[in-house]
Amino acid sequence: MDEVLQNLLQLTGFSDDDSQILQKARSEIQKWEAGIVKVFYDTLYNYQPTSRLLGDKQRDDMVTSLSRWLKHLVSAEHNENFWKYQCFIGLVHIRRNIPNHLIIAMMSRIQTYFLAQSTYTFSTVEGMRLYVAFKKLTDIVIGLIAEGYFDGYLNAIQKITNLNRELVDRMVIREVEKLLEPKTRQQSQGD
Ligand code: HEM
Repeated sequence: MDEVLQNLLQLTGFSDDDSQILQKARSEIQKWEAGIVKVFYDTLYNYQPTSRLLGDKQRDDMVTSLSRWLKHLVSAEHNENFWKYQCFIGLVHIRRNIPNHLIIAMMSRIQTYFLAQSTYTFSTVEGMRLYVAFKKLTDIVIGLIAEGYFDGYLNAIQKITNLNRELVDRMVIREVEKLLEPKTRQQSQGD
């Protein structure tokens, strides 16, 4: 995961300045926390395919987890432990059979809500700068959750089947090549 984190930091351009901007605004951001959490769970509970996945978990417990995560996001030091925890969140979601596209969509919700609050509370320039810092950070988190998920999933399959990673990679490429053959390609493009 070190390489994944390095790539995400480099390519998003997340810097100490971004961390500091978020830290400085944290008392303001905390006021938006309840709203973010409400939008998040209203969205998930009001849509059958996602409410089904929340299962028997109590809404209050879920709210506490997400609030804690949000607080941590803007007030914690962005150090090794912080990034490791984001990968761990990927594993928690595998256990619950929650696919990445749902997590990506919900991060988009969080970012959009944050943008509205940020530009409403601060001047346009300051609000946009704060949003950019938050966007970069949450995009890195999404990258780590998605890679944590993928890696965790693949490692589990490797252990179950006793196949090594290179062999699995080669077999996957062979299967994908079949999907990319002109005949299959035409069918998937509807030609
Ligand atoms: C931005 C997207 C998301 C974030 C940041 C997020 C974050 C989290 C966090 C921090 C936890 C607690 C992890 C821990 O135990 O320490 C958690 C658990 C959970 N999340 Fe998410 N989540 C997201 C999206 C979703 C979606 C889309 C669903 C369902 C449709 C979902 C369902 C769950 C469930 C059921 C648990 C409890 C897992 C368990 O305790 O076994 N999450 N999530």
